[in-house]
Amino acid sequence: MKDSENLLVWGETDVGWDANTPINETLDENGNVPDAKRGFGIADPRAPKARVYDDPSVEELRKKLEQHNGYHQLDICDPDELERAATIFWRDGFVVVRDLLNEENLEKFREGSSRVLQEILRPDGENGQKYITESNRLPHRYSYGTTSSSRQLLHDDAWASMVDLDTTTPLLTKLFGGPDYVVVGAGGDLCLPGAVEYQHLHSDVYERFNLPEKRIEQAEALGVEIRRDEESGEIEDRTKRLICDRTPAIITINFMMSDLTWENGPIRQIPGTQMAARHPPPPSEEPEWMRMCTLVGAKAGAGVFRDNRAWHGATPNLSREIRSLPNVEYGAPWIAGPHHGKTMPYKVWETLSDHGKHICRFVHEEPGVWPAGAGLNHSLGHVRKEAKETLTSPPEHYKHLV
Ligand SMILES: [Fe+2]
Repeated sequence: MKDSENLLVWGETDVGWDANTPINETLDENGNVPDAKRGFGIADPRAPKARVYDDPSVEELRKKLEQHNGYHQLDICDPDELERAATIFWRDGFVVVRDLLNEENLEKFREGSSRVLQEILRPDGENGQKYITESNRLPHRYSYGTTSSSRQLLHDDAWASMVDLDTTTPLLTKLFGGPDYVVVGAGGDLCLPGAVEYQHLHSDVYERFNLPEKRIEQAEALGVEIRRDEESGEIEDRTKRLICDRTPAIITINFMMSDLTWENGPIRQIPGTQMAARHPPPPSEEPEWMRMCTLVGAKAGAGVFRDNRAWHGATPNLSREIRSLPNVEYGAPWIAGPHHGKTMPYKVWETLSDHGKHICRFVHEEPGVWPAGAGLNHSLGHVRKEAKETLTSPPEHYKHLV
């Protein structure tokens, strides 16, 4: 049986470290090496020379990470430290909060993340490679969301039941200035042991510096004083900036399935970059200190609330453990609307709390309708595209949901 069939997303594993998968390989939608466009598969020019646990170039990087990886005294909040957590979030563009998941929720999320990853890794790669590299990504790195044919995992109870937790809802309500924010999706990312390349720094969402009325209202609800020019009535530039600052369109919570260590590919977050209009440095220009800005020290069951505009990226996993960070993605009240993809089956929506139902009001399907493509995860874009068109009833695991 393939090594990935029984994998768990925490603890030691034999999964990963496929020496046959070339360094910096990336594939297009059809599984071919692309001519030019590499999507999220931007190469890391400083990557080790071989995908081998004890290769000298890997040992060299491991030594550096052991000495330097991670923030000095990373701020970590308790779930009830709302003021402190919000202050850190506004300042840095992210905040780590411990103990978001109780034992039962952690177990449930670990089971779901393991099960879906088993599906992603099931098909063999070409040329003796253990797995298929995900289209437009670097090897041994996968996204639960983009490998899903519906683009989300809101059809899966492991993800859907995490949208409204006693430990996350109070802080989300505070950061969004009220309870009218929305769930827009759920997925997350993971890296296998042997993901030796750094993923390039990027923002998930670009700030457009636009100020629709609903955004100004949200800022006021958050306590921003709207100052206007006395003569023209125009909002002052400084206030405009503050409104944008306080009202990110998307906030994502990534949940840790295992402790983040210097060795297992902790996410890196560059503080204070959430309002940058410029692009982050490409891999060839990224300073060494940014490569070490990782969330080492966050424990299993913790999560990071991320302003999706802030620069971030995945880092090398040189360990023997999978690093999995499933997530839930939330939209601000000012972007909420019926345009969000309907990826949650009605029968899943029905099981949610009142507040859960409220925040998922724009993402659930109608009764009896299975969300297109939901329930199939695959590394290659063309397989997902086909499934989105043909998969209109639930696969076996989800049969009871329609
Ligand atoms: Fe990202």
